[in-house]
Amino acid sequence: MPHVSEIAPDLYRISVLYPEINLQFNHFLVKDDEPLLFHTGLRRMFPEVREGVSRVLDPARLRWISWSHFESDECGSLPEWMTIAPHAQPACGMVGALVSANDFFQCQCRVLTAQDTLITGKYRFRYYNTPQLPHGWDAGVMFEETQRTMLCSDLFHQDGNVEPITERSVLDRVQETLTAYQAGPLANYVPYTPNTGRILEGLATLQPKTLAIMHGSTFSGDGAKELRGLAGVMQDVLSKPSYQFPKCADAESAAD
Ligand SMILES: [Fe+2]
Ligand SMILES: [Fe+2]
Repeated sequence: MPHVSEIAPDLYRISVLYPEINLQFNHFLVKDDEPLLFHTGLRRMFPEVREGVSRVLDPARLRWISWSHFESDECGSLPEWMTIAPHAQPACGMVGALVSANDFFQCQCRVLTAQDTLITGKYRFRYYNTPQLPHGWDAGVMFEETQRTMLCSDLFHQDGNVEPITERSVLDRVQETLTAYQAGPLANYVPYTPNTGRILEGLATLQPKTLAIMHGSTFSGDGAKELRGLAGVMQDVLSKPSYQFPKCADAESAAD
């Protein structure tokens, strides 16, 4: 069952827990004249996310469906949403639209940039492209300018069944989660590039008050400080070489 909570005015966090992997998947719904859903959820999660949206508004009223980067939890169930929300239009960054979404979904995405805003009524969203952060050439974040809410996608990823919103820094949890990922089969989930710190500093200058996080608790407070702290955590955990070229048993025996 989804857990629905209002984390900022008219912004609902629809959370679905996957206990098998100890991970929350959070989808963000904006209740406004032109309702927006950010993250469609995985295809197998569609019934739960639809149930969560239905508790806030009629899903047929959705006008905008958006995401950060092309990945199943971000936009996998877009086709299912389009069948129940006939007036909805997908919206994403230029790279995402050109490289994947327009072709894969056979649709025409509205292309979002930092130069214009997507206005839903009372609320105003601006899209900032953040290539390879958290991952993917097409990645970006959305920023709602009236309430200063940042829709962060996978940034600040925290494992566990955590509270919907917290005013305590989540950086310890993020460090713990990224460190655990680096030691397992999902290592290098978030690349560290020469642009990582620059992008996070750019996002910090927006001074968000709320960080709406896809996996883990939403953070309410000094978002600039938290983003600058994330830059430090990422540098600490992710900037060291970690890649091991896979060993192939067959190749070794062939060389003998
Ligand atoms: Fe992702
Ligand atoms: Fe994700």
